Amino acid sequence: MRIVMLGAPGAGKGTQAKKIAAKYQIPHISTGDIFRANIKNGTELGKKAKTYMDQGLLVPDELTCDLVVDRIGQPDAVNGYVLDGFPRTIPQAECLTQALAKLGSKIDYAIDVDVPDENIVNRMGGRRACVKCGATYHVVYAAPKQEGICDTCGEKLILRDDDKPETVQKRLDVYHAQTQPLIDYYSGQGVLKSVDGTKGLEEVFDQITAILEA
Ligand code: AP5
Repeated sequence: MRIVMLGAPGAGKGTQAKKIAAKYQIPHISTGDIFRANIKNGTELGKKAKTYMDQGLLVPDELTCDLVVDRIGQPDAVNGYVLDGFPRTIPQAECLTQALAKLGSKIDYAIDVDVPDENIVNRMGGRRACVKCGATYHVVYAAPKQEGICDTCGEKLILRDDDKPETVQKRLDVYHAQTQPLIDYYSGQGVLKSVDGTKGLEEVFDQITAILEA
């Protein structure tokens, strides 16, 4: 099962991708998480990515495509994966389609988690992230057991730099200009499915499993 998650920043792609990965035993591959791990470790890739991410801009395609093509070629991805945050531009989608075609495979589902912009700003301001293990929470909708502490690893939770309101609006503008066209791209491939991302976490997941198990 090869799945691409689409949707605006903060629509809930990561939340749902983790649940899909756990239920269907496939890797969750998040380019945002890969870049954040590189920033934390001070790598060259991380230093380059940070300059774009802090401004709410996309990291250039040439730094992103090879990284993902390499990752989906790893042994744990042989039975499928859920891609979260990639592709994000038409050139990235074309790069993925071509890489998969060479392997005789293709994306099976592109799931668009649909949430209007008005709901997004509220969600992002309430998101808290664990810098150590990557778990995400929301102060209201998905609160940790102990305020400010990760349930999974006990690390302190932070507000991501790019979740500050001024950067969120920029990320939404970038999403509409560069990522939303992927909805038509995957619709043209006959694999687009949409879910109503304004519903609760479990209800959104039920919509997704209904699609994957239809
Ligand atoms: P990335 O980490 O991918 O950020 P994003 O796409 O902007 O998505 P988010 O992680 O912000 O949101 P999400 O949709 O996963 O929402 P979540 O589940 O956390 O990328 C960050 C940056 O890296 C980019 O801006 C770019 O610079 C760079 N980058 C990454 N990939 C790239 C690429 N391919 N090319 C170029 N650049 C790239 O949910 C949000 C909050 O809402 C959470 O608090 C959650 O608990 C809560 N929530 C989720 N679902 C619900 C619900 N149903 N009801 C109520 N609350 C909910």
